[in-house]
Amino acid sequence: MSKKIIAGNWKQNGTLKSSISLTKKVLQAVKKKKYTHEIIIIPPSIFLLPIKDLIHKSQIKLGAQNVSAFNDGAYTGEISGSMLKDSGVDYCLVGHSERRHIIKEDESDFSSKVSRLIDNDIKVIYCFGETLNDYKNKKTKLIIKRQLKKLFFNNKNSLKKHPSKLILAYEPVWAIGTGLIPSPEELVSTFKYIKNTVNKFDKKYASIQILYGGSVTPDNASSLMDTEHIDGLLIGGASLIAKKFIDICSTI
Ligand code: PGA
Repeated sequence: MSKKIIAGNWKQNGTLKSSISLTKKVLQAVKKKKYTHEIIIIPPSIFLLPIKDLIHKSQIKLGAQNVSAFNDGAYTGEISGSMLKDSGVDYCLVGHSERRHIIKEDESDFSSKVSRLIDNDIKVIYCFGETLNDYKNKKTKLIIKRQLKKLFFNNKNSLKKHPSKLILAYEPVWAIGTGLIPSPEELVSTFKYIKNTVNKFDKKYASIQILYGGSVTPDNASSLMDTEHIDGLLIGGASLIAKKFIDICSTI
């Protein structure tokens, strides 16, 4: 069975100094406790290399927040999958709500990015989830199905060949950075739905892990993790505060 996952997405925050200090604190906790789950930190790309040197040979894995949709070449400002691989990156986010709604990326961008990552042997953490409006209009499952269908259809060949390269992260847009989370009943029902939907696409996908993200804190982490089919947590705000991130790692 795969390890449970705790991933901290630092987003566009911090300085080199604060990122190094945060990494050192997490590293210290990891060395002391030897967690049995996979711990992933996802700093801004410009800090990946110095952080890679710090966590080298430790239990902490490195994630990137974004990847270019293109292979190496004339794409000013972009960072390719092979460059991420070369920099020690093991995981990369795709489809995060901020990239969908602020940067205006769409499913075709995401499918190119998924391919580039799988080609470079980097695991994809694919984020999806409904907006507040969808939630209010009781369209959560409809939206989830639509997003998952696009992901699995657009990347059919590579995902069927490498299902273990994909991790799903259900993040209701209205729960990100708001302090709100779905009720326990909603979580049970939604995760069951995600699991069934993915399994219906192909039996090969049965072991794909599903994370929850959106306003995770040390207080709600363990009850979230007790929910059936939740295999881990994707944490934003709380991952920027060493004590909170370590507390979350320790509570599960
Ligand atoms: P949050 O962010 O934990 O601050 O709500 C989660 C995310 O965006 O992945």
